[in-house]
Amino acid sequence: MSKEIWGVLVSIDSTFVYNRVLLKLSGEHLAGDQGYGIDAEVLKGLADEIKEIKEIGIELAVTVGGGNIFRGLKGSTDGMERAQADYIGMLATVMNCLALQDALEKVGVDTRVMSAIEMKEVCETYIRRRAIRHLEKGRVTIFAAGTGNPFFTTDTTAALRACEIDAEVVLKATKVDGVYDSDPVKNTQARKFDRISYMEVLTQGLEFMDSTAISLCMENSLPLVVFNLGVRGNMQKVLSGEPVGTTVY
Ligand code: GTP
Repeated sequence: MSKEIWGVLVSIDSTFVYNRVLLKLSGEHLAGDQGYGIDAEVLKGLADEIKEIKEIGIELAVTVGGGNIFRGLKGSTDGMERAQADYIGMLATVMNCLALQDALEKVGVDTRVMSAIEMKEVCETYIRRRAIRHLEKGRVTIFAAGTGNPFFTTDTTAALRACEIDAEVVLKATKVDGVYDSDPVKNTQARKFDRISYMEVLTQGLEFMDSTAISLCMENSLPLVVFNLGVRGNMQKVLSGEPVGTTVY
């Protein structure tokens, strides 16, 4: 069987077109309707969906933002020193990762959490080669604490880790169904892109992801799919190469 991916016809053995993917979850998604913290129902739904992906046999790495608990950038605009605020944000991602690990293990999914900041009483420290071994052994590998550096977002972490572990794609799971030419909440005429190049994203100043993350993906020819995680089954569709969300190439 063959399938067209990024305009190229490739031969594939199964309905799923990727072997190793990096899923970037927004912290805000975990908050659900309560708007803050971690909603147990949302977490359970996410764990069930990830379990389905794992059962297909795809190697899955995950990064989670921390915006449901603390936003570094917001902290700094409120007067906190930026680096200090970012460290708090990184710790917030660790909490989300541990919660996700718990939810996944409750539904029988083997996981490992690896932190960019050493906290060995809590979880493993990120070591690239070890992360790859975990993935090869079928463990959902969750990357916590961003890159370990202030001034970098979780999107940049996703792009960096995806390059490091040789993932074939970054799946950016969000609350919207793709990339638009303007904010669809504010502009009812906003146009959604099915496909767009990284260069177009940069030149048009589309702000769905920061430019550091975009540049990293572009330089490493790493495709990205932006899709709405709120629609059950979307993740499986993306992984089957169905036209869901926006593909950035
Ligand atoms: P393999 O050797 O590839 O099978 O990996 P493994 O992760 O099963 O083996 P290991 O003995 O390294 O880890 C056993 C358990 O301890 C796993 O749940 C790890 O996540 C956990 N673990 C390993 N290193 C650390 C650490 O530095 N801190 C914490 N808190 N847990 C760790």
